[in-house]
Amino acid sequence: MHGWPTVALVAVLTVVQLLSGCDFGPWAAPSTGTETTSTEVDTGPEPSDYRGPRVLSVWPQPGASGIPRDAVIRLRLSGHLDPGSVTAGVFNLRSGPVRRWISMSYDPVDRELRIWSSPALTRKVEWVLEILEGLRGLDGEMVLPGEVTRFRTNDETTEQPPIPSPSYEGEIAPILSRSCTGCHNAGSKIAGLVLDSPQGIAETAVETLSDGWPSFVRIEPERPDSSYLIYKIIGWKDISGQPMPSALVGSAPPALTKDEQRLLSDWIGMGLPFVDPQDTDS
Ligand code: HEC
Repeated sequence: MHGWPTVALVAVLTVVQLLSGCDFGPWAAPSTGTETTSTEVDTGPEPSDYRGPRVLSVWPQPGASGIPRDAVIRLRLSGHLDPGSVTAGVFNLRSGPVRRWISMSYDPVDRELRIWSSPALTRKVEWVLEILEGLRGLDGEMVLPGEVTRFRTNDETTEQPPIPSPSYEGEIAPILSRSCTGCHNAGSKIAGLVLDSPQGIAETAVETLSDGWPSFVRIEPERPDSSYLIYKIIGWKDISGQPMPSALVGSAPPALTKDEQRLLSDWIGMGLPFVDPQDTDS
C-alpha cells in the first residue's frame, strides 16, 4: 500500500531526468526562510501493517536555511493525535546535544502540530527536531519516532504570535450566534449547553464533561484537541450524535467554514479570552 506511490514518484522523476538530461529533484532547490510550502518527509521505515498517524508534511523543510529564530515549526499529520500524548516530552528540539525547552499546540482542525522555542532559538546554527516514543493517535496507534526536520536559523525574528488571536466580540460571538445559539441558548438550553454569553459558556461548556464522549470535556481551555466541541464541529467520525450545527431541530443554520473552525480552535487555544484586548484598559 505504501510502496507504490514512492515507486511511481521515482519512475516519474527518472523519466523527467531522462527527458531533460539534468539531475535534479524537488528537494535539491535551496530553501529560504520565506517559503511556506512544506514537503513530504520520511520518518523512517513503516511496518506494512502500521495504521497510526504519520507526518505528512513539515515546515521548515529538511535542509532549509535562513529560518527566523522564533519560527513556529509546523507538522501536518495524517490522523488525529491523542491529546494526552501531546506533551513537550515526546519532542526533542536540539542543536548538537543541546536540547531546547519547547512550547507547542496541536490544532485538530488542520491536524497540525505547532512547536516553538521560547526564548527564540540561537542564531545561525543547525536545529534538529525529533519525535520520541510516546506520541499516539486518537486510535491508540503510536506515531513512529524519528527525525522530522533539520534546519538552520538566521539572525532575525518575526515577532509573530505562535497562535493567531481571534477575539470573542469580534469573531467568535458572531459565529456562535449565526450557527449555534438558535438551539444552545439560555432559554432552550438544548443538550444543557448555552453558547449565547460568556457566562453560559463558562458554566455549561468550560471543564464540563460532555454527554457524547464522557472522557472529554466540552471545552478545555488552551487545549482545542481536548475539547469535544471541536470534534463536533469538524464532524469527526467517532463523535456520538450529529455533527454541529445540527439539522435535527428545524432547518440547520449554515455550517462552519474551515476558517471559522480554525478561529474557534485558536480561541480555545488562547484560553478563551472573553474581552477584547482593546477594552481591558477601561
Ligand atoms: C438545530 C439545533 C442545533 C444547532 C443549531 C446546534 N446544535 Fe449543538 N446540539 C444540538 C442537539 C440536539 C445536541 C444533542 C445531540 C447530539 O449530540 O447530536 C447537540 C449537542 C452539541 C454538543 C455536544 C454536547 C455533549 O456534551 O455531548 C456540542 C459540543 C454542540 N452541540 C455544539 C454546537 C455548536 C458549537 C454549534 C454551532 C456551530 C451547535 N452545537 C449548533 C442541537 C443543535
